[in-house]
Amino acid sequence: MILLSIETSCDETAIAIVKRIRGKTLRFEVLSHKVLSQIDLHRQYGGVFPALAKREHAKSITQLIAECLSEAGILKEKNETIGLPEPTKKRLEEILTHESEMVGALTILFEGLEKPNIDAIAVTSGPGLPPALWVGVNTAHALSFVWNIPIYPINHMEAHIIASLLDKQKEHYEIVEPKYPAIALLISGGHTEIVKITKLRKYKILGQTKDDAVGEAFDKVARMLNLPYPGGPEISKLADYARQEKLSSPEDLRLPRPMINSGDLNFSFSGLKTAVMTRVKKYENELYETTKKIIAMEFENSVTDVLTSKTKQSIYENSARSLIIGGGVSANNHIRFTLKELALNEDVELFIPEKSLSGDNGIMIAATGLLHIENGEKPKTNLKADGDWSIEES
Ligand code: KG4
Ligand code: ZN
Repeated sequence: MILLSIETSCDETAIAIVKRIRGKTLRFEVLSHKVLSQIDLHRQYGGVFPALAKREHAKSITQLIAECLSEAGILKEKNETIGLPEPTKKRLEEILTHESEMVGALTILFEGLEKPNIDAIAVTSGPGLPPALWVGVNTAHALSFVWNIPIYPINHMEAHIIASLLDKQKEHYEIVEPKYPAIALLISGGHTEIVKITKLRKYKILGQTKDDAVGEAFDKVARMLNLPYPGGPEISKLADYARQEKLSSPEDLRLPRPMINSGDLNFSFSGLKTAVMTRVKKYENELYETTKKIIAMEFENSVTDVLTSKTKQSIYENSARSLIIGGGVSANNHIRFTLKELALNEDVELFIPEKSLSGDNGIMIAATGLLHIENGEKPKTNLKADGDWSIEES
């Protein structure tokens, strides 16, 4: 079984081709994987604009697929280019009504290549930025239509969970099943959720943010400190310096821990962002490097305290046996370290993604696709992108 995955939910165009290794355990080999980041483009504007993200995905996805097919050793050119039959061309144009700029490149691909040895396609269908998601979904639809390959729509947040369950061995990955009940703390640019998992593919959201997501708060605070997009890694770097230099925070730079005592498992980070803004304004003319480092550390500490406290509460309340951390913010050193300690103290098994798989990538979508197939799920024909697709309905 060879599967091709497509991820375009935000600002990374990612394609992976994986091969299921025979046997009872779910193992796979990565035949090719490419992630094309749009960060340099969005950095100029300080954040991601959906229309711009869509344009970039549409511009590069066909070429990226061809490169992945070639790297996986399954690209086979036709002896001579054969034009697509008129009805096929027409249907292709229909599928790509909103991505008409892609018709040319995809037609060249189909006219020049033999059908590759691919048994299934997995594509991120939500949550994410709708215009960006549609590029992936409609590309998958086009490949599926012309090459007659079944499609499995994948929930991006579920894929972040699966990324954390991947155990890298020499030549392959294995999907490890956690002990249940498991708690997943999902922290990304668009989401902050605590999810309970009682068995494979069964998810219940116990708490979530009422306003900004953690990653979003990192990015906004970074902008206040004149740091480039994406702000998470930049804040993290400054906060690490502050700790290494043992900088101490003056009283007026301390920050609140929003909703830490709310009793429920929900979050709110927009007040914290405003609190940072007040301090930045106060120090406006003296926002020197040291002050910036202290603010970054204070912010990271506040976020970490709240995440840790709510995660601990959810472990207690649900007698959880495993803790899964997923999403782009899980690359944060301080958060990783603190949650590792929590898992150790609470005696739960910890699953955390390898750093290269914490951000958006194609391997997590492919792995989730294999899991759906393994679970006996049927491919879908009524494809759509859903920007708000909840993991509970995945
Ligand atoms: O999962 P992801 O790659 O994309 C979404 O699904 O949203 O997460 C991206 C988010 C961005 O907000 C970025 O600033 C944040 O993850 N991030 C970090 C770090 N690396 C990435 N946040 C804090 N510390 C980091 N080291
Ligand atoms: Zn993500």
